Amino acid sequence: MSRHDPSLEEALAGVTAAIRDEADVRRAMERAVQILKQMVPAYTWVGIYLLEGNELVLGPFVGKPSPHTRIPLGAGICGAAATERKTIVVDDVNADPRYLACSIETKSEIVVPIMDADRVLGEIDIDSDQPAAFGAADRTVLEAVAAALAPRLSGTR
Ligand code: SME
Repeated sequence: MSRHDPSLEEALAGVTAAIRDEADVRRAMERAVQILKQMVPAYTWVGIYLLEGNELVLGPFVGKPSPHTRIPLGAGICGAAATERKTIVVDDVNADPRYLACSIETKSEIVVPIMDADRVLGEIDIDSDQPAAFGAADRTVLEAVAAALAPRLSGTR
C-alpha cells in the first residue's frame, strides 16, 4: 500500500469517530473491526484480542471463525506482540515458526498492541490472503486506531 492510501486515511477517520462516539465499548470495538474490514479489501480477517491475565481472549472480529479464541502470552504472533509490546508484521506467515494458523488462505499478518502507557490491554490482529499485505501506511493507521481504543479499554477496567 502507498504511504498516502486514501482508503486507509478514510478508514482511520471513520474508525476514530466510531471509537469516540459509541457509548458502549464493545460496540466501539465492533464498529472498528467492521470499518477496517470493509475499507481495506486486502484485510481478510480483522479482530481484537483483549488481555485477561496471561491470555489473549478473542473479542469482536470480522471474517471466518478462528480456532484461536484464547491465546497464551507465550504462543503465536499474537503472544509475541503482546510480550514484546510492539507491532509485529509478518510478510509470510508460513515462514514464521511462531505463527498459529487460523485459515489455510492466510499469507501475511499484522498484530498491533493496544497500550495504556506500558500496560498491554489487548491488540488488533489482521490477516491477509495476500503475501506482504501490510506496509508502513497500514502500520501507521493501525497504531493510530490502537491509540484511539486504549482509553476506551482502560476506562472499562
Ligand atoms: N495467527 C495468530 C493467531 C490468531 S488468528 O490469526 C486469528 C497468531 O499467530 O498468533
